Amino acid sequence: MKQTLVLKVNSQEPDIDKVRVAADIIREGGLVAFPTETVYGLGADALNSKAVLALFEAKKRPLDNPPIVHVENVSDVYRLAKQISPKAERLMREFWPGPLTLVFKRSETVPEVTVAGLDTIAIRMPQHKVALALIRESDRPIAAPSANLAGRPSPTSAKHVFDDLNGRIDAILDGGPTRIGVESTVLDLSVDPPQVLRPGGTPLEALRKVLGDVKLHPFVAAEKELPIDKTRSPGMKHKHYAPNADVIIVEGAISAVVGKVKELADAYRLNGVKVGVLATDETIAAYRADVVKSLGSRFNLAVIAQNLFRLLREFDAEGVDVIIAEGVPTEGLGLAVMNRLRKASGYNIVKVE
Ligand code: TXA
Ligand code: MG
Repeated sequence: MKQTLVLKVNSQEPDIDKVRVAADIIREGGLVAFPTETVYGLGADALNSKAVLALFEAKKRPLDNPPIVHVENVSDVYRLAKQISPKAERLMREFWPGPLTLVFKRSETVPEVTVAGLDTIAIRMPQHKVALALIRESDRPIAAPSANLAGRPSPTSAKHVFDDLNGRIDAILDGGPTRIGVESTVLDLSVDPPQVLRPGGTPLEALRKVLGDVKLHPFVAAEKELPIDKTRSPGMKHKHYAPNADVIIVEGAISAVVGKVKELADAYRLNGVKVGVLATDETIAAYRADVVKSLGSRFNLAVIAQNLFRLLREFDAEGVDVIIAEGVPTEGLGLAVMNRLRKASGYNIVKVE
């Protein structure tokens, strides 16, 4: 494929001519990356098997891990899914457009490849003017996994998409950095109580306010790798983002965390290892290492979520051998942040008190 076309658009008032160029590409079976409020997605016509197959290839994604299908209006959900419960309807009213993906029984109109042969489909309505305009102008649901190469952190800017996928996809709609920075929450309503398969941009606390009881899938709740059995979230069994560096997470009371991070950083450096520390605004001054970066204030988990994937990419680019990261509270968006960090570390977690 030739050089990828980059179309800059205003995220508040997207230039309709550029959106139409991108929508034409989608309708012709091509691949377009676009911003959402969470991360950039790599879009293809969800009803076109060939286009969806090309999408898996461009990302080097295993065929048994289905993408999320993005819609622009709720009536599309009734075409793509069946047995839509009152609970689901309430969630759509409360949280859409927004960073919540719901898993439904699928209807027969959806091609097998789009759902990786499952009898369910994951759907969401993104809260981003560019994404919504693209779906509307394409006039079809858009299958879109995160627009990174498999194994890399999800992209929170068009540059991240370009770095991973230039020459592999047709176009990128560049609407600037994404607001939330971690992917949507994936919720399975086929079980009672409903289960979070992936924590994300919609906090667990917000779901509980509406639904009452909501559980974390055991894989999400676990702070270690669980043996893989039959899982309802296909993504769980795949290797996630793992930096070239080893990652160690230090979790616990903050003063003890700072002490332990310092101790580990000093010990590695004495052995000639290139050390990166992932700190926070409140603690960054305490550290000496080869590369020290702050995620933001510990009191603003939304900012920490926004910065996470960009900083992980930066550490990769700097070529550190070890990343030592402070744990952050698992409230609100912190649960998604810690889920991604723990996975990146391969559950290499040091607990301190
Ligand atoms: O915020 C997001 O969700 C972003 C933006 C682009 O919308 N998309 C995203 O897609 O993160 P992706 O493909 O990287 O992650 C989709 C997740 C995977 O964990 C996948 O296993 C899960 O959704 N999934 C997809 N279909 C499913 C299904 N039928 N049942 C359970 N999980 C499903
Ligand atoms: Mg992804």
